[in-house]
Amino acid sequence: MTIDPTAFREFEHRGWQEIASRYDSGFANVTSQSVSALLDAARVTKGTRLLDVACGPGYAAAAASARGAIAIGVDFSSEMVEEARGRYPGIECQEGDAEQLSFSDSTFDAVVLNFGMLHLGRPEQAVQEAYRVLRRGGRLAFTVWDTPDKAIGFGIVLSAIQKYGDLSVPIPPGPPFFRFSDPDESKRVLRAAGFIDIAVAHIPQLWRLPLPEALFDVMYNGSVRNAALLRAQRPDVLEAIRREIREAVARHRSELPMPAVLSSGEKGT
Ligand SMILES: C[S@@+](CC[C@H](N)C(=O)[O-])C[C@H]1O[C@@H](n2cnc3c(N)ncnc32)[C@H](O)[C@@H]1O
Repeated sequence: MTIDPTAFREFEHRGWQEIASRYDSGFANVTSQSVSALLDAARVTKGTRLLDVACGPGYAAAAASARGAIAIGVDFSSEMVEEARGRYPGIECQEGDAEQLSFSDSTFDAVVLNFGMLHLGRPEQAVQEAYRVLRRGGRLAFTVWDTPDKAIGFGIVLSAIQKYGDLSVPIPPGPPFFRFSDPDESKRVLRAAGFIDIAVAHIPQLWRLPLPEALFDVMYNGSVRNAALLRAQRPDVLEAIRREIREAVARHRSELPMPAVLSSGEKGT
C-alpha cells in the first residue's frame, strides 16, 4: 500500500482539529498513565529543558513542569494548543509540526512524545528532528500502544470492525498503527537516527470505563483513524459493531488492559 504522507497528515490534522475539545474526556484517562514512566525514561528532573511533541492537552509538559523542568509543548493542531493553554496557562505551548520543529539545534535536554508517533506520516523524520533539537547526552522517549492482543481496548474495536465492517472504505493510508509496538522496530529507528543507550519497556495500564458503551463512544468521537473507519460504515453495520464492542467490554467488566510500549535513547554525538 502506498502512503502519501502529506494526504495522511492533512487527514490527521483535520481529525485532531475536530476532536480536540473531546479528547480529554476520552483518552486522557489512559494516556496520562504513562507520563511518569515517560519522563523517567527521558531523565526529566528539576531544571531539565523539555520539549513535549504532539503534546495534545499538555499532560507530559505539565507533569514535567511539576518536577521543576522548563517545559514547552508543541502540537500541529491549533485547537489542541488552545486546550493545553487553557488547561495549563503557566506552560508555553506552540503550534508546530513534529516532522519539522522550529527550534534550533541542541536546544533541549529531553524530548518526549506521549502517543504521538503512531499519528505521524513520517515518524523517522520526527525522530531525526528530536535528535537535532536535543543536546548531546539528551534523551528522547516516546510511548505507543502495545499490540491489540494486549491493548484490549483496541483489540475489541478492531475485531468488531473486522467481523462486521467494510475495511475497504476510503481513508488516506498511514503507517501501520502498531509499528512501534515492536521493540525491534523502535530500536532500529532510534539507532538509525544516531541514538545510543536505547531501552524499550512495557508499561502496564488499565482503562476503567464508566459504562460498557463508553469504548465505542470514545473511539467514535475522540479518535481519528478508527473514527473515520467507523463513520464510513452503513448504519446497520455500525449498530452491529457498537453492540459487539459493548458486549465485549461488559465481559471485561469495563476494565481494559491498555499497556504501552515505551522506547527511549540518548543523543550520542
Ligand atoms: C493521541 S494524541 C496524544 C496527546 C498527548 N500527547 C497525550 O499524552 O495524550 C496525538 C496528538 O498528536 C498531535 N499530532 C499528530 N500529528 C502531529 C504532527 N505531525 N505534529 C505535531 N503534532 C501532531 C495531535 O494533534 C494530537 O494532539
